[in-house]
Order: sequence, then structure tokens, then C-alpha cells
Amino acid sequence: MILAIESSCDDSSLALYDENKLELIYHKKISQELEHNKYGGVVPELAARLHTQALPALLESVSEYFFKINAVAVVNEPGLSVSLLPGVSMAKSISIALNIPLIAVNHLIGHVYSLFLNSKIKLPLGVLLVSGGHTMILDIENDGKVNLVASTGDDSFGESFDKVAKMLSLGYPGGLAVQNMALKSKKKDRFDFTVPLMHSPRIEYSFSGLKNQVRLCIEDIKNKNQVVKQDDIYDICYAFENAACAHIVNKLEKVFLLKKWKNFGVVGGASANLNLRNRIEKICQNMNCNLILAPLDFCSDNAAMIARASVGKLLNGEFTDINELEIRPKSIIDGIYV
Ligand code: KG4
Ligand code: ZN
Repeated sequence: MILAIESSCDDSSLALYDENKLELIYHKKISQELEHNKYGGVVPELAARLHTQALPALLESVSEYFFKINAVAVVNEPGLSVSLLPGVSMAKSISIALNIPLIAVNHLIGHVYSLFLNSKIKLPLGVLLVSGGHTMILDIENDGKVNLVASTGDDSFGESFDKVAKMLSLGYPGGLAVQNMALKSKKKDRFDFTVPLMHSPRIEYSFSGLKNQVRLCIEDIKNKNQVVKQDDIYDICYAFENAACAHIVNKLEKVFLLKKWKNFGVVGGASANLNLRNRIEKICQNMNCNLILAPLDFCSDNAAMIARASVGKLLNGEFTDINELEIRPKSIIDGIYV
């Protein structure tokens, strides 16, 4: 089986995966959300320190399987370099100690493979990747070649939820908190934030202007009433979430007309957003397209998707020499194995 390690941001995770049966044997994740919460976002040095504590503890818990492990897979790009380093260092040590090959996995490609944890690979495929660090539309061809169709010029979709949550003191990460507040809104038409790039023909994303509208709205309420009340929070979250999801979907509809995908997947931590899921379900119904969603447990960062992503590389003998495995905070994506 394959041992996979994920530590690109603020989750330490480990998985064991049977590459022949395509079966997840073991998966565990230690999230650092609570530790970063008090700072309102990820503190890189703290993340690095927590990974160096969590990863060896996770490894200890699978020691009984060591003799069955054929390869070790690890995320080396993209991510916070100080977070990637403990995972990559541990993978190199395991590779030497167990004398097994090392497989480098791109974190974004890992998210794409979260679609195939419970279902067969279907290509060609369109993918929307929405996470804390990325917002992308990908077009994956029949042979697995991945093309970037659109990305964000500033904040990512998930990051904009985190920043709005921070402005409203809802804690970190903010996606689920904002979604839950939005569901409680009783005055859905109270705020009408402009949907970004609505009249631009360009297929790209931008969330910083929307974030600024929310900031101005909060300032306005504070100037008038001194405090932001609970109902204000509900209504702001509703209007923000609606505009952010409408922005994703507007551009996506344009791409659908060009690409005419028959399979479409939504991945990444923010793909758990219900408003977004509902809107994309409707597009897929209208376009007669098969919608594949990552299992809810595997939307956010996890080592199971990394293990699944490494299967093709293992079967094709695409290994990386321990002296050549580099950490890349930023990266390009090239392809997936069919
Ligand atoms: O994929 P992920 O775990 O980490 C990255 O690779 O970035 O995604 C985390 C992001 C955070 O920004 C979080 O606020 C967002 O996903 N998120 C959500 C929801 N659940 C998580 N955003 C909107 N709605 C949600 N329900
Ligand atoms: Zn991620």
C-alpha cells in the first residue's frame, strides 16, 4: 500500500491506500484550526511547529503497517514552504528507512483526485477548485492533460469568506460560520452587494472588491448604530455569500457554453458551500452534465486524496529522487494519470 502525507497548510494528515483495490485503508487528520483561530488566520511559524508535533504522532499510529508499504507520497507544492517542509522531510526519512520510492504530489491535483475516492475517473472533465488558497476552473482532457481556464486575480473564494468572517469576529476558518449565519437571515434583500466583474467578458475571478463592499457596509452600520447586531451579521453574510456564489456561477456558465462538458466536478474546502453546490447542480442539470462532488469529508485538505493522486505515478514508476525533491510554494499544474 501507499503511505501518503499532507502538510501544505494547516492540516497534518496521513493516509494508507491500497493501490490495487483502490481502497482507503486508513486516514487521519490533525487540524490546527483552533490554534490559528485566535490569530484570525494561519500563522506560518505556528503551523510549522504544530506539523512537527503532529506528523510523527500520526506516523506512530500506523507503525504496524510499515512492512506493507510500497511507496511514500507527499505534497511538495504548492503551499506554505514552512508547512511543506516537515511533511517532505518525514517522507524522505521514511523513503530511506523503509527503502521505498518517493512520490511527489501536487496539492491541487490532489484536490482533483478527491473526486475519484469513491467513483471511477471520468474524462474529459471540467473542475471547479475552490479552496482557501485557490479559485480555478480546470479543463481536463481525455489523456489527463490539465488546462487552466480561469483563476483569481486577488483573493480566493474561501479566503474571502475567511476575511468577511474576520471582519464580523466569526473566527477562523470562516467559510462554514458565514454559511451558517447566512442561513439565519430574515431580510434577504436588505443588502445588495454588486456581483464582481458582472459585465466583463473576461473569464476570471476577483473577490477583493466584494470584500471591500462588506467592509464599507460594516463601517456604515457602526457609524449609524455604534454596534453591529446579530441580525446585521445574518443579513451581511447572506448578501455576501450570494454575491460570491453568483460571481463563481456567472463565469462558470460562460465556460460551460464553450466547453460543453459532460462531466463536471467541484473540489476544495469551499466546495462544501451549500449555496454554491445548489447553483452548480442547476447549471449541470440545464447543461445535461454529470456532476461529481468530492465526498464532504474529503473536500478540505486531507491525505486520502494525495494517496489517490499518487496511484498513477506508482503504477507508472514516476518516482522522485530524495536529493531532487524540492519544495515549491507556488506551482503550475500539468496533468493527471488516467
Ligand atoms: O481546501 P482547504 O481545506 O484548504 C486549502 O487548500 O486552502 O480549504 C479551506 C477553505 C477555507 O477558506 C474555508 O473557509 C473554506 O475552505 N470553506 C468554506 C466552507 N467550508 C470551508 N467556504 C465557504 N463555505 C463553506 N461551507
Ligand atoms: Zn487545499
